[in-house]
Amino acid sequence: MGDGGKHVVLAYSGGLDTSVMISWLKEKHGLDSIAVLVDAGRASGLEELRMKALSIGAVEAIVVDAKEDFAHDFLLPSLAANALYEEKYPLVSALSRPLICKVLVDIAHKSGANTIAHGCTGKGNDQVRFDLGIRALDPGLKIMAPAREWGMTRADALEYAAAHGIPVPLKKESPYSIDENLWGRAVECGPLEDPWAEPPEDVFGFTAAPEAAPAEPEYVEVDFAGGEPVALDGEEMPTVDLIGKIDARGAAHGFGRIDMIENRLVGIKSREVYEAPGALALIKAHSGLEDLVLPRELSHLKRGLEQKFSNVAYDGGWFDPLMEAIRAFMEVTQESVTGTIRLKFYRGSCTVAGRRSPNSLYDLSLATYGSGDSFSHDAARGFCELFGLPLETWAKKQMVDAGR
Ligand code: ARG
Repeated sequence: MGDGGKHVVLAYSGGLDTSVMISWLKEKHGLDSIAVLVDAGRASGLEELRMKALSIGAVEAIVVDAKEDFAHDFLLPSLAANALYEEKYPLVSALSRPLICKVLVDIAHKSGANTIAHGCTGKGNDQVRFDLGIRALDPGLKIMAPAREWGMTRADALEYAAAHGIPVPLKKESPYSIDENLWGRAVECGPLEDPWAEPPEDVFGFTAAPEAAPAEPEYVEVDFAGGEPVALDGEEMPTVDLIGKIDARGAAHGFGRIDMIENRLVGIKSREVYEAPGALALIKAHSGLEDLVLPRELSHLKRGLEQKFSNVAYDGGWFDPLMEAIRAFMEVTQESVTGTIRLKFYRGSCTVAGRRSPNSLYDLSLATYGSGDSFSHDAARGFCELFGLPLETWAKKQMVDAGR
């Protein structure tokens, strides 16, 4: 590719903005684009989009199938951390950005390009994730985010496209901004900007409405080995397939819709709708299994670090050494997370209906209120006496001070 200063690796989505960008980068900066489409799952028509990039003038257009890497390097670690931002959002977009950064930086190195461009605007979290991810992987690369600077409205972009012969989809564009991958689907904008308005049904791409879901519940068994899901209903399968399968089963039962007001890193509260049946079902199953096998204090400390993990990932810190340290903790905790969870999907819900594990710490002889109880009731009396001693000492002093 030769002259690195003339080439820019562009995170290309195929949409209006990044299409305009190919022309704009050439016209304003004399840069030739290498357009990169990253397939992190739930993508379609990538070959057409690749051709479109070339037709607009990209010197090269590459489709990278990154589903395996996404599942193994990003989704499994997030599952180990039961990662949910603000206890609700399974980080669908936040996890794909560092993956895309890796792909872009890799292509920049291979092609000798010294600049990477992405299509993010200045209002979202994704710009932070791209900027930080690229800087963490190679601080020597230059980053351009044209949509942050060019001040084009949608009408401006359409006009620019028309003037430069950039193909624009004929059908009326959806009012929503959508991002999707193997872990779920994120939707914002349009009618969702009114937090009082219930999401219209056309927001949803693949989940059934709970009202329209089957009247019969469905059970799914998920086997875990060392914290990773390995089989559904006893059938072993690759992680990417397993995620896709459980996703489809949850979706059919109207499970996995999230409607939330989210605190963005850039200070804005936004209304977000997600569909993530597979991610949410796996997190439920995984944490349900952890309940059975992790000792109390470990489980409590892990919850705190799960939140930290989610915040760091959300804030674009995937490659931060803090993340590496948290992940090391998570990894140690996963050694005993082996066993089976039986999930029940029913009209918008997913519940843990059963759990079993060779590493279970559940001891019936300790837990039972029936016969065969081996729990020491004597010891319990002494335990309460000493455990309550500081409180009792305090209470007595209160009484003395009050002159009672
Ligand atoms: N608010 C979510 C996040 O920050 C989703 C962003 C989705 N991106 C998009 N361009 N629609 O992770």
